[in-house]
Amino acid sequence: MTKTKSRTLVITAGPTREHLDPVRFLSNPSTGRMGFALAEAAAKRGWEVTLVAGPVALATPKGVKRIDVTSAREMLAAVTAALPADVFIATAAVADWRPKRCAAKKLKKHEMSATLELVRNPDILKSVKCGFKVGFAAETGDPAAEAARKCRAKKLKFIVANDVSEPGCGFGTATNRVTILRADGSVRPLKLMTKRALAAKILDEIKGLSA
Ligand code: PMT
Repeated sequence: MTKTKSRTLVITAGPTREHLDPVRFLSNPSTGRMGFALAEAAAKRGWEVTLVAGPVALATPKGVKRIDVTSAREMLAAVTAALPADVFIATAAVADWRPKRCAAKKLKKHEMSATLELVRNPDILKSVKCGFKVGFAAETGDPAAEAARKCRAKKLKFIVANDVSEPGCGFGTATNRVTILRADGSVRPLKLMTKRALAAKILDEIKGLSA
């Protein structure tokens, strides 16, 4: 019997932390739940999954290869090393900026100023090469227009837009309500559901587009 080749997935999850000294950092409230649910669902479907995770308190899903990172630059390096893959999904909430300098030792109050000088972080999703890229967009208010712009700018097959100001949606929740916007301009709003159920829908969307 011939064994069918399994699909390969690289996925990012969780926040990044951008340190200004060993005890202080810039970050956001992502818990990794959405990305871990997707990694788990893909592994259950027989995919080979590499999960690049920022600092989160979640157990590694069965059958998933996990690489822990802290900063956006570490996340980019881990993703680049894990590729190529059939599909790259970016669920991580990556800090767009980092402090220009990171002190080796804890800064004393008198050594700090009220102004923090920042530099841009690399855009992981935009810069990596993969034939099938899926993004997420965390927005407040009407997420569709901004998500569509990101879908085009980052050359994605589709983007999953969530309104993180809506109750039960976005950061840290067990549920989410999203709209899937495809590169061809079609829009698919989904109802509120668990992140596990949503993971299955997103994998079905990938399957439908790659058939
Ligand atoms: O982790 P949870 O608590 O379950 O929360 C889930 C979530 C809210 C984090 C998730 O549903 C979500 O919306 N993730 C994307 C959050 C985000 O930061 O979106 P963005 O609009 O800033 O970025 C757009 C896309 O580019 C994302 O796929 C992001 O991973 C990627 N990106 C952004 C900046 C950057 N420097 N590198 C990137 O790869």
